[in-house]
Amino acid sequence: MATATRTDTTLTVTKIGGRIGAEIGGVRLGGDLPEADVAGIRAALLAHKVVFFRGQEHLDEASHEAFAELLGAPVAHPTVPSADGRYALGIDSHHGARANQWHTDVTFVPAYPAFSILRAVTIPPYGGDTLWANTATAYSNLPEPLRVLADGLRAVHSNEYDYAALRPDALPEALAQYREVFTSTKFLTEHPVVRVHPETGERTLLLGNFVQRIQGLTGRDSRALLDLFQAHIESPENTVRRQWQPGDVAIWDNRATQHYGVDDSDDHERTLRRVTVDGDVPVGPDGVPSRLLSPENVPDPAFGIASGASTSDAPAA
Ligand SMILES: [Fe+2]
Repeated sequence: MATATRTDTTLTVTKIGGRIGAEIGGVRLGGDLPEADVAGIRAALLAHKVVFFRGQEHLDEASHEAFAELLGAPVAHPTVPSADGRYALGIDSHHGARANQWHTDVTFVPAYPAFSILRAVTIPPYGGDTLWANTATAYSNLPEPLRVLADGLRAVHSNEYDYAALRPDALPEALAQYREVFTSTKFLTEHPVVRVHPETGERTLLLGNFVQRIQGLTGRDSRALLDLFQAHIESPENTVRRQWQPGDVAIWDNRATQHYGVDDSDDHERTLRRVTVDGDVPVGPDGVPSRLLSPENVPDPAFGIASGASTSDAPAA
């Protein structure tokens, strides 16, 4: 039976999955949210990794961003221009940006976002669900020899990958255009495969589709190990799946999750807006931080601060 726990506000948190996911009720999101509600949301987010809200139709780009500021500093995507000239990134089914690969947002830069806040605008009549996976429980449920192995590995992440392989049915011109924008700067970042979470202290697996290879291994060994760890992340018991409704909002701890946008709405329109909140540079169990291999710095985007531009020690909140 689902258990709803009340805090000293009207906010309710209801766990919806064994390892990941909670529904939050009794709250109207915006920049004017009371401190107790913000604290309740943050605590739920750290505990459940992804939290869901219904009925937030009142949000627009400005109030979405104002709410994000209560969780930390909003950051722009390092290469893709925003939907509103500020921080709101458009996730639009007609613009080639489908996310039907398991990934953590923007891991091709060192200080990738701590939180992503995704708001449904136009939802297709069927399909288009999103799945999230808990990368902390994926690690803690590994058999000990695999945890020890993962602890010592480092992986190279990049924003350059094979877009045509991801979307074999897309128009070549649309793909080429999207690829050109997404990879206008090519990033290579080395991360530990196991990240120590800066707020909870949990160990998490830091992998996903921006990974190119594991350092020091041949391509074949690297692929085999990536597939092995990724299978533990994607295991159904380790995930939660959400069917979107207009006015829905999902917030995830991007340091402790991967997600996957299911591409099964045919040609129906699906539009969401994402605002990301700045994160800090990961460290592995040995304390060694992630490092940007190329270019030398994360260049400034057209507006604001880019994710990853804060080079080190940026607070998570
Ligand atoms: Fe994403």
